[in-house]
Amino acid sequence: MCKVVLFCIVRYSLAMDLQNNISVLFLGDVIGKPGRRVIKQYLAGHAPKADLIIANAENAAHGFGTTESNLQELRDAGVQAFTGGNHTFDRKEIFEFIDQQQNVIRPANYPAGTPGSGSCIVEIADGIKVGLINVLGRVFMEPLESPFLVAEKLIEQLSAETKIIIVDMHAEATAEKIALGLYLDGRVSAVVGTHTHVQTADERILPNGTAFLTDAGCCGPANGVIGMDQAAVFRRMVKQLPSRFEVAEGPAMVNGVVFDIDKTTGKASAIRRVQFKEILDEAENQATTDSSKLSKIV
Ligand SMILES: [Fe+2]
Ligand SMILES: [Fe+2]
Repeated sequence: MCKVVLFCIVRYSLAMDLQNNISVLFLGDVIGKPGRRVIKQYLAGHAPKADLIIANAENAAHGFGTTESNLQELRDAGVQAFTGGNHTFDRKEIFEFIDQQQNVIRPANYPAGTPGSGSCIVEIADGIKVGLINVLGRVFMEPLESPFLVAEKLIEQLSAETKIIIVDMHAEATAEKIALGLYLDGRVSAVVGTHTHVQTADERILPNGTAFLTDAGCCGPANGVIGMDQAAVFRRMVKQLPSRFEVAEGPAMVNGVVFDIDKTTGKASAIRRVQFKEILDEAENQATTDSSKLSKIV
């Protein structure tokens, strides 16, 4: 076969493949102002192109909970959907707005009657629908309903509308997150863990086509103790004294993961972790928008 024809066929196949995939960027727990700030920088020209951007917003309000203005700020930056976790209800104002907010979910395995919803369908370009589910783990956490059975039930419901389903498993134990990933393998497009605020390096496509990462990490202070000020944590951990945790200062980081998903089958074709670190302009103690001072780690 002539080289030109072969080149055209390969190019055409690649183009078709790209067209058939959607790309989803999932950002780990957003921690306070530094988290919101670094996401703004990241999405303003440093992030990979994505058809859908999701963030876990359980710590967006000074480390604990989420406010309406936090959500708006992140939406303005480009985030389209939000998941939650054990800190979702830390701020009482959330009870007034969670039912009115589109594409904002909280863990699905809270007791029946809890405000908000544990799943949603996000409509992206070209009318493509993406199902989003949020569950809380139970190992070293609250004794809620089984995340396995609750997720399974929701997958059944969402599958009537779309084959593309992303699950945020907000949990402490790596084993519980891996178990959920394997349990749902082939039934959802991706399972991503949140909550520990530390990104794991075990991204993979499971045998039946589900993309999996134990923890996405967090979007927040790079030098805190999982986002919190060191001194306050030392007071509690070293001196065993009560201490109020504050969000740490200094440079912030984005931690997240990108999934490429076949829009026809809902199977994942690729998964890659992303990290991005800002450098503060020390003179003003403000995040600089000068791209020469921003470093892309991965
Ligand atoms: Fe968190
Ligand atoms: Fe959490």
